[in-house]
Amino acid sequence: MALVQALAFSVRERPDLTEQAWDLTNDTLPEYNNHGDVLNRYWGRLTEERPDFQFHVLNGDELIERARSIPVRWDGTVESLPAGIDGAIASGFDEGGANVLCALLIAVPRAHQGTGVSCIALEAMVEIARRHDLGAVIAPVRPSWKERYPLAPIERYADWRRADGLPFDPWMRVHARLGAAILRAEPRSLRITGTVKPRRTPATVACTPEVCTSVQVAAARGSRIHQDRIRRCAARPNRPSGSRAPNRYSTCRSAV
Ligand SMILES: CC(C)(COP(=O)(O)OP(=O)(O)OC[C@H]1O[C@@H](n2cnc3c(N)ncnc32)[C@H](O)[C@@H]1OP(=O)(O)O)[C@@H](O)C(=O)NCCC(=O)NCCS
Repeated sequence: MALVQALAFSVRERPDLTEQAWDLTNDTLPEYNNHGDVLNRYWGRLTEERPDFQFHVLNGDELIERARSIPVRWDGTVESLPAGIDGAIASGFDEGGANVLCALLIAVPRAHQGTGVSCIALEAMVEIARRHDLGAVIAPVRPSWKERYPLAPIERYADWRRADGLPFDPWMRVHARLGAAILRAEPRSLRITGTVKPRRTPATVACTPEVCTSVQVAAARGSRIHQDRIRRCAARPNRPSGSRAPNRYSTCRSAV
């Protein structure tokens, strides 16, 4: 796909994109992901109550990314990280004093997956955090290929590296290239309760919980290295308010 002009628009700026974005991306995750016990209590409030932190990326007129995030309180220690994505969304709505931005979702429509656009939304999140004076971006990352290795504990999977030192998992690699550090594994990040398809007697079971790794994408007011990275991201205009975003995959890759 040729990127014409990738622009990120918050839900406050372009509420009209929300429905289209859902239509284009609702098949990107397994259906069970839409039924989180905790997540579903809060999810609908994101666009209503935190519209500045939900956004969509357009390439020209074409929607290429749907992104969700929420400001949360984090004191910078591994111990005080939110308990996975469930803990993050609950904390974002129920606790005050938010000082960092927590990523909740980036989804690329199937037609555009594998074209290298995923980093645009991640960079836009860093820019949104900076603009709202939030000191870092953290992310309970759902590793794309974890489902291929169901027997490997998430702690081990998160450590797997390629020969070049980057994470084995492609989605974790995107974060690593933008300067993210892996902070800890979250074996129980997203609680989903389902029922086994009924034969005669329906039985309620807890499905395999979604796992994730918590990463800190960037410290908006952190070390010089982080600030350099952010400057480089910022140098490439990628303003959620509608100015230009990187127009080539290679631009994102050179961020770190
Ligand atoms: C995760 C997601 C956002 C990544 O976006 P994407 O467009 O597929 O990924 P990109 O094209 O930007 O590529 C990212 C990396 O994945 C690799 N990749 C992407 N598709 C691949 C495929 N089919 N096979 C092998 N590698 C692939 C790319 O090569 C790249 O790695 P590299 O830079 O080391 O080469 C997208 O797959 C998605 O929407 N998934 C469903 C929702 C989801 O799980 N979101 C993340 C949790 S919030």
